[in-house]
Amino acid sequence: MSARKSYEAPRLRQLAVGPMGKHRLVDVLPASVVEGGWDAAELVARFGSPLFVVSEERLRALYGSFRETFTGDGVTTRIAYSYKTNYLPALCAVMADEGAWAEVVSGMEYSLARALGIPAADIVFNGPYKTRAELERAIGEGALVNIDGFDELAIVETVARSVGRTARIGLRINFRVDNQLNWNKFGFSVEHGEAEEALARVAGRRRLRLVALHNHCGTYNVDPGIYTRAVRALLQVARSARRLGLAPTTIDLGGGFPSANALKPAFAAPGVARRSGEALGDFADAILRPLARARGLFGPSPTLILEPGRAVVDSAMQLVCTVVATKEIAGQGAVVVDAGVNIVPTAYWYNHHVDAVDGAESEVADGMRQVTVYGPLCMQIDVLRDQVLLPPLAVGAPLVIHNVGAYCLTQSMQFIQPRPAVVMIGPDGPVVIRRREEWRDIFALDSVPGRLRREGYAL
Ligand SMILES: Cc1ncc(COP(=O)(O)O)c(C=O)c1O
Repeated sequence: MSARKSYEAPRLRQLAVGPMGKHRLVDVLPASVVEGGWDAAELVARFGSPLFVVSEERLRALYGSFRETFTGDGVTTRIAYSYKTNYLPALCAVMADEGAWAEVVSGMEYSLARALGIPAADIVFNGPYKTRAELERAIGEGALVNIDGFDELAIVETVARSVGRTARIGLRINFRVDNQLNWNKFGFSVEHGEAEEALARVAGRRRLRLVALHNHCGTYNVDPGIYTRAVRALLQVARSARRLGLAPTTIDLGGGFPSANALKPAFAAPGVARRSGEALGDFADAILRPLARARGLFGPSPTLILEPGRAVVDSAMQLVCTVVATKEIAGQGAVVVDAGVNIVPTAYWYNHHVDAVDGAESEVADGMRQVTVYGPLCMQIDVLRDQVLLPPLAVGAPLVIHNVGAYCLTQSMQFIQPRPAVVMIGPDGPVVIRRREEWRDIFALDSVPGRLRREGYAL
């Protein structure tokens, strides 16, 4: 019988990021163990478990690589980081330090961007619902407002008049993809003539300056061709705009670029189980080539805005959690950990890479077996990862769930369990950038009418 390997705690190690060539993104930073020599067990011992860990170095590398990949001759590329993907203030501050603009979709996100010192001119305000007060502020301060529909267009004109400014606007455009209206909740439809109609309403309005045409064609797009279709659709609209005497200077193609995560087969496009490990160069070509051929439509020196979310943050954040129980369920191995789908909602559609020891998921060692990793919530669907190869695990062992930077924190909820702390590992080592929630935080907004308070009431 072969000797069992003794259990070794996972180590978070610094990833050597080599020189980054153009047109490389995901493959520069493979989904493997992180970070600066920090031991996962040591981190949770110090900061508590579960614990989100942001790597500042990875974040900067992902951002820099993305920007470089999408930089082409004759266009000025601006990266407006999508706040909704992960609006940890410290993370947004790193993005700003790298030169990112902010893409926001609510007054709350707008206020955060401004509070972080982002100039209004570097903010792209998107989304289907902006209140009048939010529009007054954004237009008054000179942000770019991408208009989502005719009602908003009318309000924006009134607001511009009332704040005495010319509103810098974009029109969000949607177009038919493969005979389906893709993301057609948003913007003005090309096929239904709404885009033309919107241009006609903007033309000749003193208080409206059409700066941009915008499209965001979906999320985790695996087909670069969709961006070529988006460029062509927006070029067609730009042609109409110029005929009406409008002069857009900016093409905004939104986000939607894939990250280093693996989609579950049920959600992947046929034949494309994952793009993880592939580069984004073909996405850049899909945008920059058709744009280069017709860029006069956006003036002599067009600006290309991209609004990446998951592609620039997903693999910059990991979650360290701890095994709290081990089980055999109908002859299958199972572990229960202290982190659930309330903080990793992406576990519903990603097969997140899980490590117990370095590279455990891919290295077959003695004693390893397929186990299901359950969270601590009182719900059967609380599964962080189904059937993953792991070594024998005892209660107290840390596990690392990889690539949880996108949409985990912003879509997390305090369901049964409060949310964990977040540390960022930067030049000074790990620093707490969000403290752990206590039970009192969850009820801080509540009150119980006096007549219902019992002896011992302490809320
Ligand atoms: C308008 C807009 N821009 C950017 C993004 C970021 O998308 P992703 O994280 O897929 O890059 C989204 C996400 O849905 C969006 O709606």
